This record gives sequence, C-alpha cells and structure tokens, in this order.
Amino acid sequence: MPQPPSKPVLASSIRPKYDELGVTGFYASSGATYRNPHEAIIRRLLHQVALEWDCDLSNVLDLACGSGEVTLSLRELEATVSGIDPFTGAAYLERTGLQTEPLSFDDICAGALEGRRYSLIVCSFALHLADPSKLPVLAHQLARVSPALLILTPHKRPALKLEWGWELMQETMLERVRARLYGSVVDVE
Ligand SMILES: C[S@@+](CC[C@H](N)C(=O)[O-])C[C@H]1O[C@@H](n2cnc3c(N)ncnc32)[C@H](O)[C@@H]1O
Repeated sequence: MPQPPSKPVLASSIRPKYDELGVTGFYASSGATYRNPHEAIIRRLLHQVALEWDCDLSNVLDLACGSGEVTLSLRELEATVSGIDPFTGAAYLERTGLQTEPLSFDDICAGALEGRRYSLIVCSFALHLADPSKLPVLAHQLARVSPALLILTPHKRPALKLEWGWELMQETMLERVRARLYGSVVDVE
C-alpha cells in the first residue's frame, strides 16, 4: 500500500532525537525531510545583516545547508549560493533545485575545500554540532577559503577564536537567534 509522505521534521522536536540517535544518526535517517521552523527569523536576520554589514554575496557557501533555509533567503538578495551538507541533499534539491555537495565537517577538516575561494560562508543552526575538539581545525580550514564567515545560532556556541583564524567583527540578535560575522585573519598565498 502507498505510504503517505512523511511529515517534515521540526527543529523544536529535534533535541530528544539527538539524544536518542546521535546527531549523525538523526540526520542520516531524517535529513531528507528536515525543515527549520525558524526559517522566517533566519530570513529576516539574514536580510538585515547582509545589507547592514555590507556582505559580499557574489559567491556564498551555505555550509550544512539543510533544506536551503539560507540559500533561499539569500537568493532573494540576488546572491549566488551553493550548498554543502552530507545528509539533506534530497530536501535541498526539492526546495532549491540545486544539488548539494555531500561533505561533512570531517571532510572539510581533512582539506576538502582546499584551493577554493568563497566571498562569504554562512553556517546556520549547525556549527554547534561540530565536535568541539575538531572545531579549531574546521574553523582554520574555513578561514583559508573565505574572508568572512557568518554564523547564525540559537545558542551562545560556537564562539570562534582568533587563534583559529577568525576575528569577531559584528554581532546582533533577533528573537533569540544570534548572528555573528567573523573576518578571516589567515593569509592565503
Ligand atoms: C539544525 S540543521 C540546520 C540546517 C540549516 N542550515 C538551517 O539553518 O536550518 C543542522 C544541519 O547540519 C548538518 N550536519 C549534521 N552533522 C553534520 C556534519 N558532521 N557535517 C556537516 N553537516 C552536518 C545536518 O545535515 C543539517 O542539515
């Protein structure tokens, strides 16, 4: 018998699932139906900071792109955006019409982005999921491929450090979602 389409997974119900399945297990099983219920806040915040902070939107990486929350919002500002996510390719394709690159934080730590150049990396509701012990290497790899990193997070974490390659330039908050803009201090020859 045909099954009804599975209901989108809402971020507000995610915490118990993380506890049950682990982050990787959860997204590996549910990534295709992931939706962020805070998408309207993400959109408003992105529009506000991209304009106020004069972000270069010519070649944006949407890191851990989910179902395209950041990509769709920035497209409204005529940004060129590509997405990376190891688990949500089907959801991202369905909503944006674009393929994701299925790279994980570990792949990036191992140098998967080496030699690329983005104008801006945006990571929304995801960088706090990276293993804290790997965050310095991950941050440093990102600082080698982009002059700017915009983090949206409903948490205080992650706060990046100067010795990891990033200097905090701007910070603001909208309805308990923080936006932090970092500038790379890494010289890339
Ligand atoms: C809460 S969702 C955020 C998605 C989207 N950026 C948003 O704002 O709604 C977290 C995202 O991190 C991705 N993710 C989980 N573990 C990851 C890993 N080890 N490497 C890269 N991305 C990962 C998930 O697939 C998921 O899309």
